[in-house]
Formats: sequence, C-alpha cells, structure tokens
Amino acid sequence: MTNRLFSFFKPLSIVAGALVMVFVFVLMSCGNNTTTAVKEENGLSDTTVFVAPDTATIPNDQFGEMVRYGRELILNSAKYIGPEGTAGHYLGNKMNCTNCHLDGGTRAFGFNFFSTHARYPQYRGRENKVLNLGERINNCVERPHNGTPLPLDSKEIIAMECYMRWLGAKVPVGGHVKGDEMPELEFPEREADVQKGGAIFAKECASCHGLTGSGVFRPDSSTYIYPPLWGEFSYQNGSSPSRVIKLAKFIKANMPDKKATWRKPYLTDEQAIDVAAFINDGEMHPRPQKKDRSVPDYADYKFKAIDYEAGPYVDSFTAHQHKYGPYKPIIKYHKDHNLPVIF
Ligand code: HEC
Ligand code: HEC
Repeated sequence: MTNRLFSFFKPLSIVAGALVMVFVFVLMSCGNNTTTAVKEENGLSDTTVFVAPDTATIPNDQFGEMVRYGRELILNSAKYIGPEGTAGHYLGNKMNCTNCHLDGGTRAFGFNFFSTHARYPQYRGRENKVLNLGERINNCVERPHNGTPLPLDSKEIIAMECYMRWLGAKVPVGGHVKGDEMPELEFPEREADVQKGGAIFAKECASCHGLTGSGVFRPDSSTYIYPPLWGEFSYQNGSSPSRVIKLAKFIKANMPDKKATWRKPYLTDEQAIDVAAFINDGEMHPRPQKKDRSVPDYADYKFKAIDYEAGPYVDSFTAHQHKYGPYKPIIKYHKDHNLPVIF
C-alpha cells in the first residue's frame, strides 16, 4: 500500500522538485534585493523590525470597511467617540489613540498594535482575568482617556478589533514580532531627578506641549495639535503612561517628536527617566483619578508593575522608591524571591 502510494506520488514530486529549482534559480538570478524583499514582505526578518501592511492592501469588502473605520477611530478618536463624538460620548478627553499609539499603532517601539490581535484574549495578572481585545481597548478608554467603556458589541469596538486584526494578520497567534516591544532602558543607581527632568522639559518639550503641560488645541478645539501631558484632560493616575519606566521608554524612542527615533534616541536613558518622573510627579502635576476607587487596581499585587505608584506591594520598598527608583534593588529583590519583574 505504501509503495503504491509512493509510486503514485513520485511523478508529482519530481515535477514539484523541478518547480522549486526553477523558483530558486529565478530568486538567485534576481540577486540579493529579491531575497530581502521576500523577507520584508513577511515583516518577520531578523534584521528589520515588523513593517505594518500598506493601507492600499485593505480589502474592498465588508471586513475592509470595518478595518477602515477602525483606523479612522484610532486616528480621530475624539471626533467619533470623544466628549462631543458623533458616534457616542465615551472618551473623557479629546486625545486620540494615535497620540500614544503612534502612526495609528504602526510605529515600531511606539506602543504599536503589531502583535496585539495575536495576543488576545490574554490572561492579565492585573485583573486576574482573561481579557478579550475589546475589554483591553476599553481599559484605555477608561484610564488614559478617562472615559466610560463602549459596549463590547458596538460597531466601534468591532471596527478597532478588525483594524488590529488586519494590521497583525501575519503575526503568529500568541507571538511577538520585532519592534512590538518598547526599548530597553539602563536604570541609574540613583532615583529619578525631578528637578533635572523639569529643566529638560523646559528646554526640549515645552515648545510643543506647553510650559503648563496642557498641550495645544487645534483652532476648532476638536482635538490636539500637541496633546496634554498632565492636568484634567490628560491620562489618569495609575494608567500605563503614568508609570515612570513605561513613559520613559516611550520618550526615549519617540520624543521630542521628529528628533528622536528608536534607531537614534535623542535623550539619554537617564534624561528620559528624569523627564518622565517630572511629568508624572503627582504633587506638581495633578491628573484625573480613577473613577471607581473601590475596585482595587490589582487583583493580585504580586503582578503589580514595579514602577506602580501606589501600594500595597509584595516587597517592603516604599511607594516613593517604586515610583522614582532606584529600581535596581527592587528588581534584584524580586528576582531573588522568584517574584515577577514587570515594568
Ligand atoms: C495617553 C496614552 C494612551 C492613549 C491616549 C491610549 N493608550 Fe492604549 N495604551 C497605552 C499604553 C502605555 C499601553 C501599554 C503598552 C505597553 O504596555 O507596552 C496601552 C495599551 C493598549 C492596548 C494593549 C496593547 C497590547 O498589545 O497589549 C490596546 C489594545 C490599546 N492600548 C488600545 C487603545 C485605544 C483603542 C485607544 C484609543 C481609544 C488607546 N489605547 C489610547 C497608552 C495609551
Ligand atoms: C515638535 C513638537 C514636540 C516636541 C518638542 C515634543 N513633543 Fe511630545 N508629542 C508631540 C506630538 C505631536 C505628539 C502626538 C503624536 C501623534 O499624535 O502622532 C506627542 C506625544 C507625546 C506623548 C504621548 C501623548 C500624551 O500627551 O500623553 C508624550 C508622553 C510626549 N509627547 C512627551 C514628550 C516629551 C517628554 C518631550 C520632550 C522630551 C516631548 N514630548 C517633546 C509633539 C512634540
């Protein structure tokens, strides 16, 4: 039986073999460029970061329509779901998702959505729950946007999910791709220096974000030219960007806008940490508080990020040290005690 099958497939495999050889020959005769192009088309080569697909490739069908609407929502969130939004009033401020998820979530090391769809539903220690993608989107609606969650079956949530699905369609389920993470930071031995951070802010950031950190509105006040960094219209306490390390990583790869890139950061790691600490200093710079404060921030505080600003913690380091560092002793303690090191 095996032999008969084999003899049946044998001629086929010879034909297939010949085709492969022709293909290899064509590839070789086109030189290196072709090989690179093939690699980059997958977006998964070792030498380059993941490249988001071209918007021209969004299909012209019902799915494509949802993808386009989802992209619109990420780029012009305030217009649709902001305080005066045309599709409902959900966000508590007029920021757009793309203010943090840069270029609509397509920029490497810019809080992108490359592998987001591939990694949800996902267990999250913070909530001690399996969160689906819609629920994770609502986390950002509630925390950085200081708003109220959208219905999970709303057209808007589904459209944003479709956009993320389209964006990361080539990412293996559960996987990561190069550039979906944030850059590494070398932590200083000292705690973050808020005074130094203030000086950096005045010199490098205030020209756009304003000395008062409240950003600059578009002339029609519909949304921002330069988004706010603190104050009543900025992200909430306890949201991801209110953590010093998380924010410093974003700043390192992306700010000042147009000057910094992940390939060539503008600030040193220490400067990025100092300016992030200045922005997130709660005494100098108040920001909206979580609305329902009776719900604990972390179901199990073993999973609390080490730069989270409020206790209780699994260790005995102060809230001040957790927020401003020095971080190394905390990291060492967690490693020595087999505790998660999350930041
Ligand atoms: C003020 C900044 C800010 C704004 C505005 C913001 N987010 Fe986020 N978002 C973050 C940060 C920070 C994270 C955590 C990223 C990380 O841990 O690397 C995050 C994470 C996410 C994630 C999970 C990504 C993943 O791969 O795990 C989703 C989904 C998301 N945001 C959607 C949105 C949507 C949709 C909007 C607009 C309605 C939005 N966010 C607005 C800062 C923001
Ligand atoms: C040339 C103008 C410019 C300068 C200078 C600049 N930024 Fe920004 N920044 C922007 C713009 C524009 C965005 C929104 C990006 C987008 O929507 O594409 C932004 C977004 C941000 C965000 C995320 C959104 C938010 O409001 O929370 C942070 C944080 C930030 N900048 C911090 C800084 C820091 C820190 C510096 C100085 C080291 C700095 N920026 C310098 C223009 C600037």
